[in-house]
Amino acid sequence: MRAILLMTLAVGIIGACAVPGEDNGIDLELALPQHFPDPIAPLSNRLTPESAELGRHLFYDLRLSGNGTLACASCHQQEYAFADSLAVSLGASGGEGVLNAPSLANVIYAYPLTWAHGSVTTIEEQLLGPMFGEQPLEMGMAGFEDEIAGRLAIDARYRELFADAFPGEEISVKLVRFALASFVRSLVSYQSAFDRFLAGDSVAISQSAQRGSELFYSERLGCSHCHAGFAFSAAVQSLATNSQPTSPFHNIGLYNVDGEGGYPSAAQGLIEESGFAKDMGRFRVPSLRNVALTAPYGHDGSVATLDDFIRIYEEGGRNVEAGSNQGDGRNNPWRSDDLKVFELSDAERDDLIAFLESLTDSSFVMDSRFADPW
Ligand code: HEC
Ligand code: HEC
Repeated sequence: MRAILLMTLAVGIIGACAVPGEDNGIDLELALPQHFPDPIAPLSNRLTPESAELGRHLFYDLRLSGNGTLACASCHQQEYAFADSLAVSLGASGGEGVLNAPSLANVIYAYPLTWAHGSVTTIEEQLLGPMFGEQPLEMGMAGFEDEIAGRLAIDARYRELFADAFPGEEISVKLVRFALASFVRSLVSYQSAFDRFLAGDSVAISQSAQRGSELFYSERLGCSHCHAGFAFSAAVQSLATNSQPTSPFHNIGLYNVDGEGGYPSAAQGLIEESGFAKDMGRFRVPSLRNVALTAPYGHDGSVATLDDFIRIYEEGGRNVEAGSNQGDGRNNPWRSDDLKVFELSDAERDDLIAFLESLTDSSFVMDSRFADPW
């Protein structure tokens, strides 16, 4: 069975492997296992040990937000695999955002970035959102660029870190963004119990989790059509090639506020970017690595537990029975045709959850290379 799983994991990553000898922009040892493809970083912002180390300092630094109250790590916390435990994140102004903070594990592979933007394909670009975006207000750096560069430049530790990472360049908010991109690219997670099982340790996961993996990869449930490959998400860098198994964006029937498939106005998915009716409620397939650590679930954190999430798939969508989002998502006309109709026994559901729990990488959340350096 392991051989079949390894093959299944490899599907969808064909084409992602760098051509031997080709420069992949990475000068940092990532020690990835065989079933992970070669990642790439932009040649205009090479991933080096020095830039990742500078980025780590910045990631945990409150001085980066306009009003000094928020760091990247406020919403992306290592103990939750660099997600947080809230349904939707709070911004620098204390106001609530509308989206659930995703885990940053293996974001080096993510393509495209964020829950519902087909056009955001590099981390450098994505970071303009949290750093300068005003809707929602996250770090609130807009208008404070010089002040922030100044705050960093008076710190001798930063002067040294910047000089090591970007020799001869002046400290600027652009370099801050580049270093942050490098640090998040260094956040690779590949040491889950399931990875050890794949590597040949047949007792690394329980019998229940093994049965759960068979369910996950079965045609009956079809989970791996969308949560595909080594990342358990179709939205990986290999989409830059023509090898994607399915689209990275799907509507899974969480809402139907108007009887015509509408999602709540706060977050409607890909339609906000594309304007096409068929993109209503379509969000990017999230990776399931470390998923047991990243509750609550869904793009808006509206699903409390893994058990609840699986029951929504079993029901064919979610019927919101009361409140302002009332409506029967099971009848959402935009719900993906790639979702199977299936029912699980309680024992099978427990097995599937045990499998999802086996995707937790406890060394990733303890790794001192990713921890707060201050
Ligand atoms: C207020 C909470 C908050 C803060 C602060 C924040 N983020 Fe995020 N982050 C989010 C949310 C929410 C998303 C999802 C946004 C979306 O889908 O549009 C996200 C998305 C991301 C992504 C894309 C992940 C993916 O899988 O596509 C990266 C990378 C990222 N953040 C890094 C950072 C960095 C670096 C910082 C510091 C400059 C930061 N974030 C600050 C909440 C936050
Ligand atoms: C048609 C593609 C597709 C299939 C098939 C699919 N999923 Fe998903 N899955 C998604 C998308 C898209 C989301 C995010 C939806 C949203 O938030 O609106 C998601 C979200 C999830 C989440 C929440 C993750 C998080 O971080 O919030 C879990 C858990 C999950 N799926 C498990 C499964 C399991 C188990 C199966 C098989 C029974 C499955 N999925 C089948 C597309 C799919």
